[in-house]
Amino acid sequence: MSVEIRFLPDDISVNAEVGEPLLQVADRAGVKIPTGCLMGSCHACEVEVDEEEEPICACLTAIPAGRSQMTVNLYVDPTW
Ligand code: FES
Repeated sequence: MSVEIRFLPDDISVNAEVGEPLLQVADRAGVKIPTGCLMGSCHACEVEVDEEEEPICACLTAIPAGRSQMTVNLYVDPTW
């Protein structure tokens, strides 16, 4: 079961497997998510995912089951 992951604002879509780490998917897409600790404490890797109210730490996130599409929004524009 693969999930289509769409990275914004670059608008790059790749297919990922359920359970695949988000950072790995981003890497395959050629999308650079900034990281630091890789342990969920520095929040350098925060991204916004559709249907989530709060930003999530990409380093702790795997592709969830039960959906066919997911949008990941990187913060590249601090002015919005
Ligand atoms: S890299 Fe530090 S919280 Fe994800």
